[in-house]
Amino acid sequence: MTTVSPSLRRAAGVMLALALVGAASAAPNAGPATPPAAADEATLVQRGAYLATAADCVACHTAAGGKSYAGGNPIASPVGTIWSTNITPSRLAGIGNYTEAQFARALREGVRADGANLYPAMPYTSYTRISDDDVHALYTYFMKGVAPVDLPAPRTSLPFPFDIRASMKGWNLLFNNDKRFEAPAGKSDQWLRGAYLTEALAHCATCHTPRNALMAEDESRAYGGASLGKWYASNISSDPVHGIGGWSQETLVAYLKTGHAPGHALAAGPMAEAIDHSLSKLSDADLDAIAMYIKSVAPVAGGTASQPAYAFGKPATDEARIRGTTMGKTTGATLYSGNCASCHQASGTGAALGGAPSLLHVSAVGRDDPGNLVMAILDGVYRSDKDTPRRMPAFARELDNDEVAMLATYVRQTFGNPAAPVVTAAQVQALREPAQPGPIVTYARIGLGAAVVVLLVLLGWRFSRFGRRRRTA
Ligand code: HEC
Ligand code: HEC
Ligand code: HEC
Repeated sequence: MTTVSPSLRRAAGVMLALALVGAASAAPNAGPATPPAAADEATLVQRGAYLATAADCVACHTAAGGKSYAGGNPIASPVGTIWSTNITPSRLAGIGNYTEAQFARALREGVRADGANLYPAMPYTSYTRISDDDVHALYTYFMKGVAPVDLPAPRTSLPFPFDIRASMKGWNLLFNNDKRFEAPAGKSDQWLRGAYLTEALAHCATCHTPRNALMAEDESRAYGGASLGKWYASNISSDPVHGIGGWSQETLVAYLKTGHAPGHALAAGPMAEAIDHSLSKLSDADLDAIAMYIKSVAPVAGGTASQPAYAFGKPATDEARIRGTTMGKTTGATLYSGNCASCHQASGTGAALGGAPSLLHVSAVGRDDPGNLVMAILDGVYRSDKDTPRRMPAFARELDNDEVAMLATYVRQTFGNPAAPVVTAAQVQALREPAQPGPIVTYARIGLGAAVVVLLVLLGWRFSRFGRRRRTA
């Protein structure tokens, strides 16, 4: 056979994507299309696989180098490490004994088969919006399309009082409304599809919406940007200066598909992973819908910037000067010249023909907060794009805190905002350290104590009102 029809090729592409997310299915057609009411099992498995990709279940439920969905990925929380569990259909170590109702409850209410509450590190406050049909497809996929792995994941044990899983019941009462996606009136089909994908499955808000003192998403600042510990999930609201209101729909789609938004941003860290595992594998129509919805969310201001981070960017012209005058002395410029220029060029404009990208008009470089730039230098960047994996080395070992600070300052002031404040060694050290448990645990305990009080008051108020209503009725 010498010619391959486009539909066969597309099917092959989707099959590859399925294989990558651990699907063992070998069914003939694939795609995101809604199946007929009486869908056969193979179709359901494929649809479930696509939904699992859109929801990026693999990201949290797969350990580095481990089997897909076998769990064991540590998720850092301010109160300790929460281990993701094995969600393969293994009856010994996974969810092989889950009924569909139990599976639905785990996804939407954050309750395990044994009745214990899950920590909200599992994004059930988003998944609660998933429709019954889609839960059914997901369940079929996890039971029939995923290979069982009989290896249990490490157990989570948080310090008292966070080890009391039942305390999540109170939290859920306040913060999980347990409601399916409701379509607002007067919106186009494309917008509704985008809203459903974004809010229910792709859980962009899990990372991009700041959290309140009780670790719940602050709806009043939806998509307004949030710290993930080390990385900063940028403001992606429609604010033209602090958010991405100035990005065109096409630019946003390009970013979600490839992690490259020319003239705007690159993706590294957790966003690069979300793109590589999940978003890059969605259909163009679905990415278009997500972008349309994201562009429609309310603007959230924040920070003191007077122009968008991506607006900054002038090529450097000081290589000759560096070479001539700073002999022997380490400066940001010499560090850049020695460690970065071979790929990104002395001018910062990057290599032609698919090499290292330009650092001009890149949000992480132009942003007031230097965090993501420092993280890219410390951790490097890895893009697992299947055709051309790209890698920037990590410099955490080669460079000390002072050097990273000097380098980041140089990169910011040269390729970004010339008036950007100096990055300090202490800022770099803070991003190197693992999340400090000590003081934060104390703080969180005080927070939880306060939460319990608030809760009791709320409950008391509800019951007294309930009682009164009953009495008057
Ligand atoms: C952001 C990270 C994250 C994502 C994404 C995620 N999960 Fe989870 N999930 C977790 C963590 C962490 C736990 C364990 C929480 C705990 O022990 O309290 C968990 C637990 C579960 C459980 C309970 C298993 C058990 O009995 O212990 C199920 C079922 C589950 N996830 C299914 C899914 C499915 C299906 C998806 C995709 C639709 C998904 N998860 C996506 C983090 C995640
Ligand atoms: C696992 C956490 C996570 C999830 C889920 C996530 N993001 Fe991100 N996102 C980030 C981080 C971290 C960055 C910063 C990346 C960088 O600077 O290299 C980012 C950057 C971005 C940017 C670039 C903004 C700028 O100004 O540079 C856009 C746009 C974006 N995300 C959109 C989305 C959308 C839309 C979704 C859901 C479909 C999503 N993200 C899901 C963590 C996440
Ligand atoms: C071996 C080549 C190479 C070297 C050396 C290198 N980079 Fe990179 N850099 C890359 C690649 C590749 C990417 C990501 C490309 C992509 O997204 O496709 C990248 C991405 C970046 C980004 C974008 C991160 C984001 O979140 O937006 C920044 C900033 C950056 N590099 C700065 C530096 C600095 C500073 C140095 C010197 C310490 C450096 N790079 C050294 C190849 C390199």
